[in-house]
Formats: sequence, C-alpha cells, structure tokens
Amino acid sequence: MPELDLPQRQATDALMLAGFWYRALPSDRVHRNRLHKATLLEIPLVIGRDRMGKPFALRDACPHRGMPLNCGRFDGETLECGYHGWQFDVHNGQCQLIPSLTADQKMKVERIYAGSYRCEEQDCFIWVFIPDPAPAGAGFGPAVEASEPSPEIQKFSSKYRLAYLQAEMPVSIDHGIIGLMDPAHGPFVHQAWWWRSRHSIHEKEKHFEPIPNGFRMSAHTPSSNSAPYKLLRLYADADSITTTIDFVLPNVRTETIRAGKYWFSSLTTVTPVTRSHCRIDVVAAWNLFRWVPFVPQLLKYVFSKFVEQDRRTMELQAEGLKYNPHLMLIDDADRPAKWYFQLKAAHLEAKRSREPMKHPMQGPITLKWRS
Ligand code: FES
Ligand SMILES: [Fe+2]
Repeated sequence: MPELDLPQRQATDALMLAGFWYRALPSDRVHRNRLHKATLLEIPLVIGRDRMGKPFALRDACPHRGMPLNCGRFDGETLECGYHGWQFDVHNGQCQLIPSLTADQKMKVERIYAGSYRCEEQDCFIWVFIPDPAPAGAGFGPAVEASEPSPEIQKFSSKYRLAYLQAEMPVSIDHGIIGLMDPAHGPFVHQAWWWRSRHSIHEKEKHFEPIPNGFRMSAHTPSSNSAPYKLLRLYADADSITTTIDFVLPNVRTETIRAGKYWFSSLTTVTPVTRSHCRIDVVAAWNLFRWVPFVPQLLKYVFSKFVEQDRRTMELQAEGLKYNPHLMLIDDADRPAKWYFQLKAAHLEAKRSREPMKHPMQGPITLKWRS
C-alpha cells in the first residue's frame, strides 16, 4: 500500500533559503541609467545598470533613514538619496558624500554602506546573490561574496537561440516548487487538443539518482507526450533522443534533451518573492530550427500555455490553502516533493551543525506512477 505522509508544513523561517543566487529581473527590462524595483525573499531591492551597462543591486532603503533609494537620483555611477542627498557608489554601496557635513566635521563617510548585493547577468536574467542575514544591528558593509557563479544553462554548440517567460504565482515557494516537479497533474491541468487529454494517462517508470544538493531523473528516452520531444522527432530517431532532468536547491530545475547534434536545454527557477508569492522563470536555449521562421514564437506559445495553466491552477489552489488545510504527499508520484522537503531540511541542518550535508537519498531508485 502506498505510504501516506502527513502535512509538510514548514516553519516560515525555513521557507526561503538564503545563501543562493536568485533571478531578479529579465535583462531586457533593465535599462542604463534607470532604477528598477524588485523583491527577493522579502528584501526590497533597487536594480539598475551603470553607464557601461554593468548591473548592480542595492537594498532599496537608505541606511540613513530608510528612504527608498529607487526614488533618488542616479547619474550612471552614483545614486543620491532623495531625502538628504547622501550619495552612494552603486556597485559596492559605499557612501561618497553627506551634504550636511561642514568642513570641520570629520565623520568617516566611507565607513557607511547602503546594503549591496553581488549581481551577475546570465542567460537573459540579472541574478542577485542573497547572503545569509547579517547579525541584527550589524549595519551594512561591502557585499558578501558568493562562493560560486550564478547558474548557467548548459549549451552544446556555439550557435543557439535563447528565450524566456515568466509567471507570478500567489503561493509560497514550497507549493511553487512541488507544483513544478509534480508528475501527476499533467493529464488534468495540461490538456489541449494538440497535446493530450486525460485519456492519454498511462503507467510510467523513471529512474532517479542523488546528485549534490538535489536529484536527477536519469537520462532516458523522453515520454512521448513532451513538447520538445515531439519537435525533436522531426530531426532524429526516437531512440537516439535522451533527456535528463535535474533539480537542485534552492529552486533550480534543468532539463536537457539531446538528439545527435541537436539539443534543447532549459533552466527553470521558482523564486520566493515574499512568503506567500513566488515567480516562475523559464529560460530555454536550443539549436534546432534556428533558420526556420516562427519556431521561437511557436515554442514560446507552447511553453506559455503550460505555464499559464500552472499559474491558473496555483491561483485556485491558493484559495484552498487560505484556511491552512491538512495536506498529504503520496508515493510514488509525490516522492520528488518529499525529497525536496528532505533536501531543504538536510541543508538547514548542515548549516546549523557546520557538518557536511547528509543527502536524504541512499542511491538510485525507480519510481512508478500513472500520468
Ligand atoms: S534618508 Fe537617505 S539621505 Fe537621509
Ligand atoms: Fe505543470
């Protein structure tokens, strides 16, 4: 009999994981010499590009009296707060000038910092590294360095195309993520005449293995009802096509489909905006149909349909979740969701104890479900 697991209710402070890179804004929405607002893990940010186009991210609150810095003046290098005119270097947050100081007041202005964050531009997005919170009352210093670069989409040729899409979901990060890895909702949520109906449901068997900070659905011939697979079949034999799907903490799902020299890769993230809101960003790269007109539009249409179906479902689910119902995770279809919660718990425990993380999976395992 399948095991029934009870409510995966998480303490809210364990909900959003700090110490990782998160996607903040799409690159094409951030313009030179302009200031943009964004929120990550309930942290208000002001994001922009300097004169050379290099992106930056600061906490959107002046260290003097909390005025939002996005209301200030930006000349392409320095941001001036709109309240008392303190000026900050946008890349490291260091204070450059306090206009109210007189010549004989020797305050060490350069010791004051606005909160600043490591920032990288990668595959259509500006990523921001959110470090673990500093001790209360510590004030800001220079940005905390990230131990690794921001995640990058795997590419298998020098020429490829890239596209992204996003959707806001009115649910917590945990519901966003387990919705993303849930195999059983497909036949019910993702119906379309050109795709599949609830009658196309059939038994599936997939192999999984542990990888650092996550798990992998091992390379296999993709399920006959996946969209990129249907396209790839026009190019290659069915059995030469393989796909690998990885999930790694805190929020990254990558899918790679290869058929000889052709490939399709995507990197999807679910980003905690606040405790009750998340955002899904899908970025895909591919080298098929590069010369055929309308393919990017077609792919984008297909993906945006799916994402919209997921978004609409989660919007309805949020209604039900308002009353904090008991929830359950069943085997095998919800096993990936269980691993997600176990990985998160193991990660937090490793941080607390300063011991290496104990991976919740013992080794490779096969799961079966109908979808
Ligand atoms: S609040 Fe920003 S300078 Fe005073
Ligand atoms: Fe879905």
